[in-house]
Amino acid sequence: MRRVGIASLGAYVPPKILTNKDLEKMVDTSDEWITTRTGIKERRIADESQASSDLAYEASKIALAEAGIEPSDLDMIIVCGVTFDYPFPATACILQDRLGANKAGAMDIEAGCTGFIYALSVAYSYVACGFYDNVLVVGSDVLSKVTDWQDRSSCILFGDAAGAAVVTPYKGQGELLNFYLRSDGSRTDDLLIPAGGSRNPASHKTVEERLHYMKLNGPEVFRLAVRVIEDAVTAILNKAQLKKEDIAILIPHQANIRIIQTAARNLAIPQEKFFVNVDRYGNTSAASIPLAFYEALKEGRIKKGDYIILVGFGAGLTWGAFLIRW
Ligand code: COA
Repeated sequence: MRRVGIASLGAYVPPKILTNKDLEKMVDTSDEWITTRTGIKERRIADESQASSDLAYEASKIALAEAGIEPSDLDMIIVCGVTFDYPFPATACILQDRLGANKAGAMDIEAGCTGFIYALSVAYSYVACGFYDNVLVVGSDVLSKVTDWQDRSSCILFGDAAGAAVVTPYKGQGELLNFYLRSDGSRTDDLLIPAGGSRNPASHKTVEERLHYMKLNGPEVFRLAVRVIEDAVTAILNKAQLKKEDIAILIPHQANIRIIQTAARNLAIPQEKFFVNVDRYGNTSAASIPLAFYEALKEGRIKKGDYIILVGFGAGLTWGAFLIRW
């Protein structure tokens, strides 16, 4: 097995900002309620013409430039998310064409908001085995397009973004050390889009019943999220035989500040070690972890040699963690 590293990261958020004050004009809510219950102050919203591959393209360009890699050097492109351009073909293929990555394979991975951890584990495995040298992993989601803007309990939570990473043989930075993945399919109904797939194909009835929008059992997902963050962080530490104190920074999926605070408290890890940007972007699904990772790096929160834990959870239920040494 070869050692594997993250050569670079990139991220993109659409320019349009939707604040809590804006939401007050759309549904029966308040800035105070949203801030105290979620920690979110604003989120980014893609314009009508922007699909997942458009956001992914912008984030990818940055990651490729920072890695000094040409699109034609890529062996594989993996896009993860829940709001792909089309049911098929893969958004990764659209991105491959847009980038001009003429020697790359391309596929999508769907693991809810945990997508980036799952996709990174696949990229890691390809490179570790020596099959590929340059793998582009992109988490991209345009949740605003599947958000029910009449449902105040969910529409306040989400935003649009993309984050990308270039995974290569280890060159002295961002070594991918270990990962942990889990799922619990009995929790499907807690977070899903009920229609538009083969279970409930699109029809006038499904559209009238608003079944193409995301449905969320908020309190239940909250409870599960806290539990699985604890599970994943504990498991990855045990696997690597590290102590909590060894970890410099945790980059959690950004869903709700109270989920992060509760998990930090239960794990007895200082909250300051958890990177947070949910206040500015809300929950951006599969983009959330790479976007936070990118910002943590740009803000100087990550130093050479630091142990980093990425930890995520999402629809499925899926959850997982990645241990990295920068
Ligand atoms: N503005 C004002 N009031 C609202 C509201 C809003 N936007 N949304 C819900 N409420 C009301 C509810 O109707 C309820 O009123 P009631 O007590 O009169 O019935 C009250 O606020 C409490 O609702 P509840 O759903 O119990 O609130 P909560 O503290 O659990 O917070 C979430 C709701 C959605 C913010 C929280 O459960 C959460 O973040 N869950 C996780 C969601 C998530 O992260 N999903 C994605 C995972 S990848």
